[in-house]
Amino acid sequence: MFAGIDHVGVAVEDLDAALELYAGRYAMETAHRETVEDQGVEAILLDVGDSHVELLRPLGPDSPVGKFLASKGPGLHHVAYRVGDVAAELERLRGAGVRLIDRAPRTGIRDSRVAFLHPAATGGVLTELVQPAQGVH
Ligand code: CO
Repeated sequence: MFAGIDHVGVAVEDLDAALELYAGRYAMETAHRETVEDQGVEAILLDVGDSHVELLRPLGPDSPVGKFLASKGPGLHHVAYRVGDVAAELERLRGAGVRLIDRAPRTGIRDSRVAFLHPAATGGVLTELVQPAQGVH
């Protein structure tokens, strides 16, 4: 079951410039900043109630977010739903015929367990499932 929207991912070319909007003018609190080598990004999480905005800067042009920026420019990149057990959700969705990018969960930002569904199966919306680490929301 999807328990809520964990975060909305936004592709940016310059994190500090993006922070001027999100932390500056929107006055959101920065919750976390991390380089996630596995996903080829430097990411910043900002608090929005129980949810977050995840700003994503690619580490290189050949990373998934780098390719996204090159073809589409900065903007909305993905939606992430919070789940209690990402492995169980993947099995359930695979059984329901949903095409997956990740057949097994991997480690995401803040030691979360994450998996991506294929946008061809989700009406063009790149969709992430997030199981937060214990004690993190
Ligand atoms: Co994300």
